[in-house]
Amino acid sequence: MHFQWYPGHMTKAKRMMQENIKLIDLVIELVDARIPLSSRNPDIDELGKNKARLILLNKADLAEDRWNDAWIRYFEEKGFSALKVNSKKGGGLKAIQGVIADACKEKIERDRKRGILNRPVRAMVVGIPNVGKSTFINTLAGKACTKTGNKPGVTKGKQWIRLNKQVELLDTPGILWPKFEDQTVGLKLAYIGSIKDEILNTEELCALLICFLKENYPEVLKEKYGIEASDDPYVMLRGIAENRHCLVRGNEFDTEKAALLMLDDFRGGRLGRLTLEYPQEM
Ligand code: G4P
Repeated sequence: MHFQWYPGHMTKAKRMMQENIKLIDLVIELVDARIPLSSRNPDIDELGKNKARLILLNKADLAEDRWNDAWIRYFEEKGFSALKVNSKKGGGLKAIQGVIADACKEKIERDRKRGILNRPVRAMVVGIPNVGKSTFINTLAGKACTKTGNKPGVTKGKQWIRLNKQVELLDTPGILWPKFEDQTVGLKLAYIGSIKDEILNTEELCALLICFLKENYPEVLKEKYGIEASDDPYVMLRGIAENRHCLVRGNEFDTEKAALLMLDDFRGGRLGRLTLEYPQEM
């Protein structure tokens, strides 16, 4: 399989990021809890140097909780502040103010020494497409509104969302480009739906996911589709087609449809909470 990213998008996204990053104190980087490293772009380390850093394991509801905790420890050991969240439902977001204050304590202390008191921390959300940046901003802004009873503070030019007296959030997120050089990374991004299915062979992708699940979550496919493990993932895919009555012309199994269905079940969390990469491998 071959993945591509368009240089035009990349250049524009990078330029925007370089401009906006000058305005902020804190980078809030969203990663996907199911693939916390494959959904990062390490360029942010260079772009965000000298800034306070917070990593959010978003979509934590779709990943195994023991691995979420292990990943939090992993990032904390690397010197980041880290938190697991579910931006869709707002889970974990209560803790965010405290974590932001903690991530920015050096900056706040620097300000205090220079006699600057109560200057709000300015933050920007960054992450690869589809990781949940807009959802996170909307949920957080929504919470801020109900809390203060005010509309988010809107100014001309750059728009900032005032979360409270201490924190302001840039309302446009920074878009990081996914990493494509490593094919296994590309594959994981495809599993979670960050790369459009049209540019991939769906059945091949699904067969590879079946192999991963067989190895790491052996019960899942049996429980969901009543199929037995086989050395040939395509046999298992036919089993899913049979179980879900995916047929073409009446009696042939439609494995393409079954593959789409299974990928959709996986992405929607209907196969359970599954983590696709583990800190000890990294
Ligand atoms: P982006 O700005 O980074 O590109 O991502 P966006 O917020 O558009 O979110 C991408 C998808 O991820 C959305 O689903 C959104 O609902 C979902 N999402 C975001 N955060 C979470 C989370 O913490 N948990 C779960 N389970 N899902 C999350 P969608 O299918 O595009 O839209 P919808 O069907 O949810 O409306």
